[in-house]
Amino acid sequence: AVGAADARQAEIGVIGGSGFYSFLDDVTEVQVDTPYGAPSDSLFLGDIAGRRVAFLPRHGRGHHLPPHRINYRANLWALRSLGVRQVLGPCAVGGLRAEYGPGTLLVPDQFVDRTTGRAQTYFDGVPLPDGTVPNVVHVSLADPYCPAGRAAALKAARGRDWEPVDGGTLVVIEGPRFSTRAESRWYAGQGWSVVGMTGHPEAALARELELCYTSLTLVTDLDAGAATGEGVSHEEVLRVFSANVGRLRTVLFDAVAGLPATGERDCLCAGALGGLEPGFTLP
Ligand code: ADE
Repeated sequence: AVGAADARQAEIGVIGGSGFYSFLDDVTEVQVDTPYGAPSDSLFLGDIAGRRVAFLPRHGRGHHLPPHRINYRANLWALRSLGVRQVLGPCAVGGLRAEYGPGTLLVPDQFVDRTTGRAQTYFDGVPLPDGTVPNVVHVSLADPYCPAGRAAALKAARGRDWEPVDGGTLVVIEGPRFSTRAESRWYAGQGWSVVGMTGHPEAALARELELCYTSLTLVTDLDAGAATGEGVSHEEVLRVFSANVGRLRTVLFDAVAGLPATGERDCLCAGALGGLEPGFTLP
């Protein structure tokens, strides 16, 4: 049994995507407020293989938040404030190549930001409600994803006979509309692999808070440039995600179990600020 003091503690965060609104069976629901406002929903805390996990439905339960309205800063801040240091971020994406059809699991190693106007930093010079002013800090995002988290995700998928694509570039569009065929062909022509709407600024904000972040993309459709039909529909995205959510959940469980202990992180993410003073106290 969990005592009241640890009830609001977790070490690993999972941010569920479209069609992914519950993750753990036996949960404690926790509401968290942040200097940036409210996260997408309550956080749902439970145990996997002896690890304490906090699940947050990215779009809110019932999916009321479109990608550009998600309060990414509040989401990552809320997770960190519970003690979370490693985050797994599954999301639905469109495949940009014919061989990345629905049901493909791709663990990207890069992303390209094609969003506009999203709050994408904690270091924006604006005082927090408590009056502290963030310093000017530029984190490295050359390798945006945690190598240890990626390894755990890939191993977990292979262990469930779901051969993942190891690496590739996720292009993150502003949405909420899907891409035109010309945009989609252009993305594919750049060599990019999959297209989604939520991968940025999630990974960048995680890095600013020295959180390990791993993206697991589930292809729900071939994007307009790779498909021959009418193009993507939101209904199709949700249907294919739901059809795969069971095995994705299993892979995430195994990935959680395979993550290093919080105190044993030896990746770049854990020291992302490199001793630089944020100007505020990390939660
Ligand atoms: N999410 C799922 N499918 C997508 C697509 N084709 N484009 C952008 N985001 C997506």
